[in-house]
Order: sequence, then C-alpha cells, then structure tokens
Amino acid sequence: MINEKSFLLGNTGSAIRELFEYGKKRKEIVGEENVFDYSIGNPSIPSPSIVNETLIKLLKEKEATSLHGYTSGVGDLNVRRAIADYINKTYGVKEKPELIYMTCGAAASLTITMNAILNEGEEIIALAPFFPEYRVFCEKAGGVLKVVPCNTLDFQIDFDALDKAISNKTKGIIINSPNNPTGVVFKEDTIVRLANVLNKKQEEFKHEIFIISDEPYRELVYDKDTVVPYVTKYYNNTIVCYSFSKSISLPGERIGYILVGEKMKDAITVYKAIAGAGRSLGFVCAPALFQYMIPSILGYTSDLSVYKKNRDVLYKALTEYGYEITFPDGAFYLWVKALEEDANQFAEHAKKFELLLVPSDSFGMKGYVRIAYCQDPKMIERSLPAFKKLILDYKG
Ligand SMILES: Cc1ncc(COP(=O)(O)O)c(C=O)c1O
Repeated sequence: MINEKSFLLGNTGSAIRELFEYGKKRKEIVGEENVFDYSIGNPSIPSPSIVNETLIKLLKEKEATSLHGYTSGVGDLNVRRAIADYINKTYGVKEKPELIYMTCGAAASLTITMNAILNEGEEIIALAPFFPEYRVFCEKAGGVLKVVPCNTLDFQIDFDALDKAISNKTKGIIINSPNNPTGVVFKEDTIVRLANVLNKKQEEFKHEIFIISDEPYRELVYDKDTVVPYVTKYYNNTIVCYSFSKSISLPGERIGYILVGEKMKDAITVYKAIAGAGRSLGFVCAPALFQYMIPSILGYTSDLSVYKKNRDVLYKALTEYGYEITFPDGAFYLWVKALEEDANQFAEHAKKFELLLVPSDSFGMKGYVRIAYCQDPKMIERSLPAFKKLILDYKG
C-alpha cells in the first residue's frame, strides 16, 4: 500500500536522533546538569550579530511580497553573484553565478546532486566513516553506496582500497572535509592524489566520475596552518554541496547551495540536471529571506574560539586518561576508539555515567564512538570525571 522503504526510514530514525531523544528524557529524570549529551551536531554558539541585524534591515526595507515571495527556482541571481564573487576572491578560482543553485542546506544539496547524476544501479563511493544520510540519499536516487574505509592511522584516504573499489559503475565519490565524524581535514596532497586517481579512472572507463564535496564544515578549522583545499581547483568534475548550517549556526533555517565547477566539460548539462532534480523533489526555491541575507554575511562565522577551546580541553583530558583519539583539525567532533570491540555495547556502558556517545556503526565503521563537542563548555568540564570513571571501569 505504502512505500515500504520510506516507511522503514520513518520508523527507525537515526541512531543520533534516538540518543538525543533518550538524553532529553534522562534530563527530566536526573536533572539537566547531570547528563552529558554529546549526541547531536547542533551548533551551540549563537550566530554573529550581523545575521539578525541584516534580517531586521531586510524586514524593514524590502517589500514584503518580494521578501517572502518565490525566488527563481535556482535562486536569486544577485545572491548567486555575491557567492561566486566571495568564493573567487577567497580561493582564487573563477566560479560562475550561473552554475550556483540555492538549496535548503547540505542535505538538500546532496539529495538533489545524487538525483541529478545517478542512473539506476550506478555507484557512489563513500569513505568510511561517513555521515549516515549519504546512504539514504544515494539509495533513494536509485544508486548503490559503496563503502571504502579510510586508513585508520590518520583517517586520510586509503588509496589502495579506493583504487580497487572504483568500477565501470562508479559515478562519483563523496568527500567531506573537515569531516563528520572524525574532524579530519584532507590535506592538499590527498586531494591532488585523489584527482590523479579519478582522472585515470575516467579515461579507463570512458565516463565522468564526479567528486561531490560535502562542505558544511568548511570554515570550522581551528589552527592557522590548517588549510581546506578548494576542490574545484584540483579536479574538473567537482560538485560542491555547501551549507550555512554550521559555520554561522543556522541549521534550522535551511540554507545552502550547490556549485558546479566551471571547469567541468558538461557543466551546463549537469547544472540543468540539478535544477531538474530540485524540481522533481519539490524544492521550488530555497527560503527567500535567508537567500537575501547571504550577501551581507559571507565571510562571517560564529565565534569559533569556543569550539576550539572545547576541542582542546576534551582532547587533552581524554588522551591523558588513556583514550585513543585521532587529533581533529576541524568540524566539531572527536572520533574515539571504543574500549570494547562492540561500540554499541560501549556506548550503552557509557550511559551508566550519563555520557551520551554515538556508536560508530551507523557511520559505516565499527569500534569507535563520536563525541559532538559543540556543547556548553561548562557541560564539558562537568563531564570529565565521568569520562575518567568510564575508562577506569574498563582498565582499572
Ligand atoms: C557531513 C554532513 N553533511 C551534511 C549535513 C547536513 O547539513 P544541513 O543542515 O546543511 O542539511 C550534515 C549535518 O550534520 C553533516 O554533518
């Protein structure tokens, strides 16, 4: 009667959301301050004041019918011009407003992109660990998600494994740097090597293989020497899926964009397929008010020093206690080795100390937990004894 796959998706929910809901109930029972909820990647720092100032100005000055009206399906042209100018100035590229498509955040950018490029049975490679919704978006678009684990020493790409995984059916690979859930940033030499591998494979299989660069965390890096390479510079068949959710703390407003690299040979065709996919998925247009806000906020971020401090406090304390963690250069996650083989059991055990950690299985990898440290610094301080008790419980 109904679509079974959709029912299953709606009925099961995500491991992260379930843990978040558990946390809310637990707080009612034992008190808010006694639960250490590291489940969800919801920005904890308010947007910079320029966001509200711009919105108020727009509400006062722009005519309501245009402010709240439909924009063109691909997004307002002036907004897309402002984005292209900003990107070109910041990263030294020559991207075009005509190849930018405004979306309701990265999730929309990804699902539209997958529907635009995939034919039934074609494959998208995801590098594990990866954002769990990739599978949902890919399969709904008729594709097959092929998982290639990263090298677990530094969570950069395992090129031997990637080489073996690319086949005649490979249509694209999703990269996400800074990464959810590891916090790792792909270095320039990783991107260069990836571009070389894909160029060779494109020649071998005589069709294009896209890089889908999922970039909601692009600006979330904490050290001066951490550079996040702009992928269109290195590889022609790049589609960037960007979002303003995390960098400027607007996840509920649903605003982002897709950028088709101007060096792509069939850029206009791909862009039209993106517009068609957005249309068939019923997106109509991205929220008008937040589109109009964008030109004023480009280049601004929330106060990232809070996340940096959270990262440093947690990383230092947890590694001193004996946890194994890959140092995260960006995003707001720590990827911690579970203290027993089964990460689900480990996360269950952590609940005894009111620590809510997300087991790694839904990210396509076993044996780790994810800590989302976009939290109140006071909660982080309060949680440290619980982390200590947890490891002592295992190691004595
Ligand atoms: C890696 C990754 N991609 C995409 C998204 C979706 O972000 P948005 O809120 O922009 O849809 C998230 C959200 O957590 C994410 O972590």
